[in-house]
Amino acid sequence: MAYNLLKGKRGIIFGALDENSIAWKTAERVHEEGGKFVLSNAPIAMRMGSINQLAEKTGSKVIAADATNMEDLEKLVDAATEELGGKLDFILHSIGMSINVRKGKHYTDQNHDWTAKGWDVSAGSFHKVMQVLYKKDAMNEWGSIVALTYMAAQRVFPDYNDMADNKAYLESIARSFGYFFGKDKKVRVNTISQSPTPTTAGKGVKGFDGFIAYAEKMSPLGNATADDCANYTVSLFSDLTKKVTLQNLFNDGGFSNMGVSDAVMDAFVENE
Ligand SMILES: NC(=O)c1ccc[n+]([C@@H]2O[C@H](COP(=O)([O-])OP(=O)(O)OC[C@H]3O[C@@H](n4cnc5c(N)ncnc54)[C@H](O)[C@@H]3O)[C@@H](O)[C@H]2O)c1
Repeated sequence: MAYNLLKGKRGIIFGALDENSIAWKTAERVHEEGGKFVLSNAPIAMRMGSINQLAEKTGSKVIAADATNMEDLEKLVDAATEELGGKLDFILHSIGMSINVRKGKHYTDQNHDWTAKGWDVSAGSFHKVMQVLYKKDAMNEWGSIVALTYMAAQRVFPDYNDMADNKAYLESIARSFGYFFGKDKKVRVNTISQSPTPTTAGKGVKGFDGFIAYAEKMSPLGNATADDCANYTVSLFSDLTKKVTLQNLFNDGGFSNMGVSDAVMDAFVENE
């Protein structure tokens, strides 16, 4: 159901690779709610993914940008404001990548060049995106910036590897930059901590099938899907959440506050 929550609002959505991507589902929902946007992804993702189908479906332009490259980001923000006809109201940073995870390097045996690259893509890029928007004064007052994160920033999930550290850094950037964006420009900055979700990035994590099933059994409401995440993001882009900022918001069916559930206990209790 659509409520016109984003009518007249403009933005940039980073990270739609294919129809499983959280950014893809979010773009579809934002479009349904009347928002207009530019889609962006790394040049290599243009070749691998199917972003042009999404662009066609949502009447959006695709502008390639490596989110670690300041020059690309500056060109993107200039082109997006020009294309959309004014300053921006919403940004989705839905970007993550670890070469250590991808190549199966253990946390205790990282290749630190890969660690640095993964940090830049997954966390540093969020600062870079906001710095470009801030310096260009490209956001409207009461605009909203959201990045996606995972609970491994707070608790140990061994196979999440260096992405856990990247997410902790990402969440800190949201608070630190969110202070200046709030005070100087009345723009809010939050992270959504999402349940495990079967996407290209998600399924790349070793043991993913195990921890998505475990989280499902632990969460009183079950795992949040990519569509649930899209809905939550729409609410954060809307004018209904104007004073929510500097937060890490869990969209996880209750998982983050659980100790144990009956369903998980059942797997350990001996037959009596
Ligand atoms: N899938 C999960 O279980 C899960 C859970 C919590 C949080 N998240 C987070 O959600 C976000 C989106 O991931 P997803 O699960 O939809 O997977 P996805 O693989 O569909 O999206 C990741 C995106 O990052 C993009 N990207 C990589 N390097 C880039 C670069 N240099 N510049 C610009 N873009 C680049 C990829 O092209 C891709 O579109 C990520 O931040 C991820 O960590 C995912």
